[in-house]
Amino acid sequence: MNILHVLFKSSIGKKITMAVTGFILFGFVIGHLSGNLQIFAHPDKINAYAHFLEALGPGLWLIRLFLLAILIIHVWLAAQLTLENKAARPQGYQNQITLRATLASRYMRVTGVIVLVFIVYHLLHFTVRVTHGPEAYPNTVLIDGTPVRDVHSMIILGFQNPLISIFYILAVGLLSWHLRHGLVSMFQSIGWQTRTWSKALNKIVLAVCVLYFLGNALIVGAAMSGQVRIQNPQVAGYVCRTDCEICGLRNAATIAESDEAASDNQS
Ligand code: HEM
Repeated sequence: MNILHVLFKSSIGKKITMAVTGFILFGFVIGHLSGNLQIFAHPDKINAYAHFLEALGPGLWLIRLFLLAILIIHVWLAAQLTLENKAARPQGYQNQITLRATLASRYMRVTGVIVLVFIVYHLLHFTVRVTHGPEAYPNTVLIDGTPVRDVHSMIILGFQNPLISIFYILAVGLLSWHLRHGLVSMFQSIGWQTRTWSKALNKIVLAVCVLYFLGNALIVGAAMSGQVRIQNPQVAGYVCRTDCEICGLRNAATIAESDEAASDNQS
């Protein structure tokens, strides 16, 4: 029998494909969070990282297309399994277990759809960069003078609006819930939910998902509350602190440029 037929047509094949695609997406969100946590380091860190990704050019597009295909397969199979379950469900709920399973899969659908809406907004916000005016998407230079997009300031500016921040925190909360149930079902599909392992596995999954939520919430909270600050003198909201070396070092090239522009204007 054709392997694609097994993976996309049989019920167990669909569950395994959902588990594998879900796990790849989980890998992406964990990697993405690790990248974003660099916001707590020197701004050059996250800006150089974003610059490195952008410089991958066609390679980055291949990764994006691969992830998009994985997301589409995951959502498409979820929709198919939902329809199949509906068709197979007996009239009325037979018992508590059926009711609980049905509620859990309903929450998976609802959280999945909200996360999809969030992803669309998020891409428009930070990748296509059209949800705010041009002043929300500044540029800067690295310490070696390389001109780059100032992703550090872009994130902080993005979270200065409390409504946007609340939306992000709610979305990552729902995503964390979705991941938790998804990972537990994944271990079930691949047969790891044995009597011996089930409890420990569920605890590890819970801990990972709570940490995932906290990591994201920390970024949003730190940006919103001013714990991480804009460190680009050319961006609104920058406050020069005499105890830092930023003006002297990192933005030397930017400052020189703006000084030049200012003296050109004066003459
Ligand atoms: C605090 C939370 C988050 C922050 C600060 C954040 C930040 C960013 C930034 C700055 C970019 C643009 C990178 C660039 O253009 O250089 C980006 C892209 C992206 N983010 Fe997030 N993100 C967060 C949460 C999430 C979550 C929860 C998801 C998934 C559900 C996600 C999915 C994506 C995707 C798919 C891209 C596009 C990647 C690409 O095509 O290059 N992000 N994010």
